[in-house]
Amino acid sequence: MMKILIINGPNLNLLGKREPTIYGHVAFEDFLETLREEYPQCDIAYYQSNIEGELINKIQEVGFDYDGIILNAGAYTHTSIALHDAIKAVTSPVIEVHISNVHSRESYRHVSMISAACKGVIIGFGLNSYRLALVSFLL
Ligand code: DQA
Repeated sequence: MMKILIINGPNLNLLGKREPTIYGHVAFEDFLETLREEYPQCDIAYYQSNIEGELINKIQEVGFDYDGIILNAGAYTHTSIALHDAIKAVTSPVIEVHISNVHSRESYRHVSMISAACKGVIIGFGLNSYRLALVSFLL
């Protein structure tokens, strides 16, 4: 079975409650349940942390073993060279995702420190961004 890990960064534990006009009304745990039902051929693990170093620890922990990592690094996307280095250090392919279209928002969200280290980037499709990333591992 294909082993995929979804990692959510800071403030994404509040999905469903946090700025719902931007991020929607659905809690990530509920979406995850649907995703697991839709793709029984994948073992989908999930990790969330608000702490940059913990995200790096998790990437290092699974990054030589999993078939793919889907990463929404939240605001660390725009700042973290350490996350870039962690993605580069491991062998599992990492796909960067964003729920909102960061390019139609504040200019400080237009820059990603991690895109260049990732296999690909999916931006702006709501929670479907995670679904599209998962499907890309199945192609
Ligand atoms: C986000 C976009 C980031 O700019 C923001 O800091 C987030 C969420 C998104 O999924 O749209 O926390 O990564």
